[in-house]
Amino acid sequence: MDFSRQITDWYRQNKRELPWRQTTNPYYIWLSEIILQQTRVIQGMNYYLKFINHYPTIDDLANADEQSVLNDWQGLGYYSRARNLHAAAKQIQSTYNGVFPKTYEEIISLKGVGNYTAAAISSFAYNLPYAVVDGNVFRLLSRLFDIDIAIDSNEGQKTFTKIANELLDNQNPGIHNQAVMEFGALQCTPTNPSCTNCIFQQECIALKNGTVNMRPLKKGKTKIRNRYFHYFHFDNGVDIILQKRTEKDIWQHLYEFPKIEFEQDQNLEEIKKFIKQTFQIEAVDFTILKKHILSHQHIYCTFWIFNELPKTIDSQWEKIRKSEFDLYPIPRVIDRYLDDKVKNKQRTIEF
Ligand code: ADE
Repeated sequence: MDFSRQITDWYRQNKRELPWRQTTNPYYIWLSEIILQQTRVIQGMNYYLKFINHYPTIDDLANADEQSVLNDWQGLGYYSRARNLHAAAKQIQSTYNGVFPKTYEEIISLKGVGNYTAAAISSFAYNLPYAVVDGNVFRLLSRLFDIDIAIDSNEGQKTFTKIANELLDNQNPGIHNQAVMEFGALQCTPTNPSCTNCIFQQECIALKNGTVNMRPLKKGKTKIRNRYFHYFHFDNGVDIILQKRTEKDIWQHLYEFPKIEFEQDQNLEEIKKFIKQTFQIEAVDFTILKKHILSHQHIYCTFWIFNELPKTIDSQWEKIRKSEFDLYPIPRVIDRYLDDKVKNKQRTIEF
């Protein structure tokens, strides 16, 4: 089977025109790949365009404030990607004079760049022969060869990387890799793959064995942690109170309302008592959000609403003008809450 020729022919006829496919600028390709990790193409596109517009060069990104970068990233989630992106731009500025490095080893040493991203940049920008191995590739190869090795195991990672590199067209690794990923995204999809018009119908062993829906195999689900956040939305009409998240945890360096956190669901009367004792004021309302789902955590948020500021201000808190709120990067849950609040006519206080 001339795998590479077949799949690149398919790619030429079926590929989507995407903005990062119009360039060989390694900086833009890197940006696109970081944005597209855990993000759908449609959603990633606007962020990609915004980033190349706000930060047209590596130096522009390196010289920006982290807060601006996080603000531009807002809504994409997995904020460590943005922090690493910014840190790596600084790394390129100081180590490589602002010029994107040209070898796989140098590229993979950048903060936030792993095997997949290094292979993608090396092959798309420089045509270096490194096979990409991502979810699309696991799916396609596990079906084509009906491989029942778990993809979330060391053995799986090794086996699929080896096969992907054996199949790679060393003369045209860039287009080969793009083609394999696009095929996984459009044809060999996670659910309802288009097997009836697939170019690999004759070769696909999982199709022959009736195991397409069982591939790729995954070991186990990661355990989900439940977290219960009680946020305090103090708002006297002019000022609000925010706090920067500094811990090594989700949403690091984003801003949120002051809060207390629990591992179990709490009795609301107890929280009311806590509020009265701690802040010496009472909430005028509260809102409970639908659970917020992250990859390994479910977050349950209750927002307590106040129409004044508390009597004493904690040293970690920042009193800010409401008019300057847009300058602060915030997690999606806070955004959701504010959206709901503005839409909900029953609420007496408008944000
Ligand atoms: N997902 C990750 N990288 C991608 C790319 N370059 N094109 C389309 N989807 C992708």
